[in-house]
Amino acid sequence: DKVALIMAGGSGTRFWPLSTNDKPKQFLDLVSEKTMIKETIDRIKEIIPVEKIFISTNIKYFDIIKKELPEIADRNIIFEPMARDTAACIGYAACIIRKIYKNSIMAVLPSDHLIKKEKEFLESLKFAFCEAEKNKIVTLGVKPTYAETGYGYIEYIDRKNKKNDCEKNGIKEKFESYKVKKFREKPNKELAEKYIEQGNYLWNSGMFVWKTEFILNEIKKHMETHKVILENIEKMLENVDLDQVFGEKLSNFVKDEFEKFEKISIDFGVMEHTKSVSVIPVDIDWNDVGNFKSLEDIFPKDKDSNVVRSDYFEQIESEGNIVINKENEKIIATIGLENIVIVNTKDALLVCHKDKSQEVKKILNKIELNK
Ligand code: GDD
Ligand code: MG
Repeated sequence: DKVALIMAGGSGTRFWPLSTNDKPKQFLDLVSEKTMIKETIDRIKEIIPVEKIFISTNIKYFDIIKKELPEIADRNIIFEPMARDTAACIGYAACIIRKIYKNSIMAVLPSDHLIKKEKEFLESLKFAFCEAEKNKIVTLGVKPTYAETGYGYIEYIDRKNKKNDCEKNGIKEKFESYKVKKFREKPNKELAEKYIEQGNYLWNSGMFVWKTEFILNEIKKHMETHKVILENIEKMLENVDLDQVFGEKLSNFVKDEFEKFEKISIDFGVMEHTKSVSVIPVDIDWNDVGNFKSLEDIFPKDKDSNVVRSDYFEQIESEGNIVINKENEKIIATIGLENIVIVNTKDALLVCHKDKSQEVKKILNKIELNK
């Protein structure tokens, strides 16, 4: 069985005041009139039927997720009692999914990315499912364009993996998979620059395909304490009927055990250590929409290079600004203003230099301290 796990438990705050801890990026309609998570599901639905799409998120998003995703069955929403990052998320979800589908291959997808070339993406995913049959961690790699320090870097060996039977299954020949030499999560600037220069590196898009059983074993192999906790959870789940126990009930049931997970991502916990990784270079117009500045790569600009997401905006001699207004009655007007982000919501007004978009998180920390 081919299944999808959509990870939606992150608590991004770099889009404040649009996003908050109660409503992180995946629940925002940042790039279309749909929320990012809805976009993700609609995209994947084309090749995975909804009954095989699982969502993993924090119990605190119970209401918002129910409201946002009525088409996803209750038992397919895996609620985590607390945030323990993606290694715990994937390990725990794998325990549950394996109980439902004994021999599944899962595509693990973030819930907050933009992919413009959907057809290309779905084709590459089909190819990835096929590759994952070989007991590999299959990653989708994106050609890097600058020394971003917030991504994982995949060093690959420029020798194609032996062809498998994927083509026979009607999957286009345009994809290739390569053996991965080393995975490096979030390097510092210096290293990132070196990787870009060297050329045989791809960005990790954060999307993975693997056999459910295989990733569970990989986590156990490389993460000692996760192993113990996962085995305890597996035991706890042995006599549980997942058609009866799900949602908040299941979250409460595993809470004391789940709490013991260390907060660490799959990238640091497994990807940096495992030897069984393949990468498929993809050209899918991928954007992880990391902060306000990334909206410039997504939306068309006005004649003065402003990105305007507001019905009521007037400007004179203003260039390169990003203006978002979620409070439609208010007019926003600028004169002689350059490279500024303006975000107006009913709760707050943010005015920030475009090149400081990464630091929105910091101001939110300050605001929360003073509350
Ligand atoms: N269920 C659940 N539980 N989901 C989580 C949790 C958690 O505790 N923590 C994060 N997520 C979700 C986020 O909502 C997001 O969709 C996805 O998992 C990835 O988490 P991020 O926190 O956004 O990771 P990142 O952006 O720092 O790094 C990852 O993505 C990059 C590409 O955007 C890594 O995989 C990098 O290697 C990669 O380059
Ligand atoms: Mg991310």
